[in-house]
Amino acid sequence: MNILDGKQTASAIKAEIAEEVTQMIERGERAPHLVAILVGHDGGSESYVANKVKACEACGFNSSLLRFNDDITEQQLLDEIKKLNEDADVDGFIVQLPLPKHINEQKVTDAIDFRKDVDGFHPINVGRLSIGLPGFRSATPAGIMDLIERYGIETKGKHAVVLGRSNIVGKPIATLLMQKAQPGDCTVTVCHSSTRNIKEICREADIIVAALGRPGFVTEDMVKPGAVVIDVGTTRVPDASRKSGFRLCGDVDFDNVAPKCSYITPVPGGVGPMTICSLMKNTLLARKGIF
Ligand code: GUN
Repeated sequence: MNILDGKQTASAIKAEIAEEVTQMIERGERAPHLVAILVGHDGGSESYVANKVKACEACGFNSSLLRFNDDITEQQLLDEIKKLNEDADVDGFIVQLPLPKHINEQKVTDAIDFRKDVDGFHPINVGRLSIGLPGFRSATPAGIMDLIERYGIETKGKHAVVLGRSNIVGKPIATLLMQKAQPGDCTVTVCHSSTRNIKEICREADIIVAALGRPGFVTEDMVKPGAVVIDVGTTRVPDASRKSGFRLCGDVDFDNVAPKCSYITPVPGGVGPMTICSLMKNTLLARKGIF
């Protein structure tokens, strides 16, 4: 069994990005600039955004954090997005989700200029991914593909089973795995809450991507010997022994599943660090221009 070390892989990629940014600056070019919008004080969102700002520093990017109280109106937020769309000094920006209930998240996503949509959530980027055109890829699926590529895992002709059909992980990772590319070229099955025989389908999988948000869902009896298991789950489970009061729990029963796998991602330290790294890659691409 081999661990897919997302922390180490992400560090290596960030060092490569930092090197490229150093060269850009030596040529007299401006460093990439990422802006993050954070509305309210959700604990998870605060920590994700802080990690994104930290990653910008590691890559030599400029970053700005725009904070708003959760009573900001939808129109005020749309006005802020318009300003960022028009600001030539900003290469890419993200609006951290979830947003307060009175704000329509789809309307906000649609308002972002797709050329600055480094989260890859805008319908134009989603559509471009779907038909294999260049565009910004959603960060978690892109990070998973990078991890698979860096570890030299063969995917061509393999059966990949994706658990979960969310717009930001399940659907785009299924699209990337089926794409005629390396890595890619898989036969993909997507399972969700209405799927019958999930256990039997998983047992047929060469690659399992678990993105349901249900701690410990994938058990040892669902995994074929030698399978590759990618765990996207990051549920916060109360843990009084931790300073934070919680620990992150993946969708895979790691202790019992790991011995059967050829490769497996840990939680934390697997997919999570790769996700932030993909956001950095997208921001660098935004600076260089991909459309
Ligand atoms: N909330 C949870 N994941 C993400 C993400 O990747 N981007 C944004 N903007 N919000 C999120």
